[in-house]
Amino acid sequence: MTDCSEHQGKWSITFGVNDADAVDQLLRSLPNWFGIEASNRAYVESARTLPTYFAREANSAADSEPVGVLLAQRHFPEAAEIHLMAVAPALHRHGVGRALVQALEAHLVADGCKLLQVKTLGPSHPDEGYKLTRQFYASMGFLPVEETFDLWDAQNPCLILVKPLAQPAGSDGTAFARTTFP
Ligand SMILES: CC(C)(COP(=O)(O)OP(=O)(O)OC[C@H]1O[C@@H](n2cnc3c(N)ncnc32)[C@H](O)[C@@H]1OP(=O)(O)O)[C@@H](O)C(=O)NCCC(=O)NCCS
Repeated sequence: MTDCSEHQGKWSITFGVNDADAVDQLLRSLPNWFGIEASNRAYVESARTLPTYFAREANSAADSEPVGVLLAQRHFPEAAEIHLMAVAPALHRHGVGRALVQALEAHLVADGCKLLQVKTLGPSHPDEGYKLTRQFYASMGFLPVEETFDLWDAQNPCLILVKPLAQPAGSDGTAFARTTFP
């Protein structure tokens, strides 16, 4: 995996550098969303290998603490998943999450991927924080497919959302420079 960075307005998005400790820090800053220690450990472990996008303030040093992270998974050539997103709470609603999703989507589209999914806590759960999370994904163009009570557990309904990735008009996506994506 190569290291590359792109500027999305105020935010600089870096792709290709894994940093499990930074992911751990971001999860710990969001106890209302990430309060289950075993799940957090699994996320941190997955951060050692999954394709990773970090957001930093555009003018900050490359080794400064990231303010947001997105971990991605490519299940098939046609389909990918957002495995984890976390943005530092002080910066919610400042466009960090949007910049991370846009960076991932640009790579996926350039690599011919057609569908992006994400799983989050479903609407039958009363949690107010995840209500905002669902609003974020809806705003990013994700559509609800199913709320299932079998995937996680009965207390944690899982909402599956998908987003068809825009393909360049008159092309199958290969007209773009191909980006290596594991
Ligand atoms: C969900 C999360 C990643 C979104 O990142 P963010 O940087 O706060 O989101 P953005 O500022 O890029 O929001 C983009 C758009 O989403 C929508 N949105 C985001 N947060 C919203 C909120 N709290 N209420 C309503 N709409 C919201 C808005 O349309 C927003 O655009 P706008 O501000 O121009 O109106 C972030 O809030 C977060 O880390 N939440 C806690 C952890 C979490 O939920 N992770 C995902 C678990 S599946």
